[in-house]
Amino acid sequence: MNTSALTEQQQQQLIEVATEALKSAYAPYSQFRVGAAILTARGDIVAGCNVENASYGLSICAERNAIANAIIRQGSDKMNLRAIAVVNSKNVSCSPCGACRQVIWEFGRDAQIIFLGERGWQTKTIRELLPAGFSL
Ligand code: THU
Repeated sequence: MNTSALTEQQQQQLIEVATEALKSAYAPYSQFRVGAAILTARGDIVAGCNVENASYGLSICAERNAIANAIIRQGSDKMNLRAIAVVNSKNVSCSPCGACRQVIWEFGRDAQIIFLGERGWQTKTIRELLPAGFSL
């Protein structure tokens, strides 16, 4: 498993793909468009965006949509998530929500999360963001 830190160029590429993906977001209720881009262990980059619903609780975050997209592309082998970048249309601090952290944990025990923090771009591991993730 490749758990080494991503290069600056790899991080930048994920941010670019996530920024492109947020243009596809469906966010008429919050106006908060989010894009995500995953780097899988086998080197694929896969995007996702948030998709909201009039029944607000049914809205799906960009991160979870990107993960579902990666699984569809990689067939039935368990997809391993090496890194995920998250961007938003308001350019405000935004790290993955609790539900997404648990879903990231499912597919990448050493995943690196690239997100806009209070002081600019940050990279943290999923273990830092979700110290005691649930496993079965
Ligand atoms: N959202 C994401 O897609 N990812 C995040 O990391 C934070 C929140 C979405 C959910 C909802 O569509 C909108 O942003 C406002 O909460």
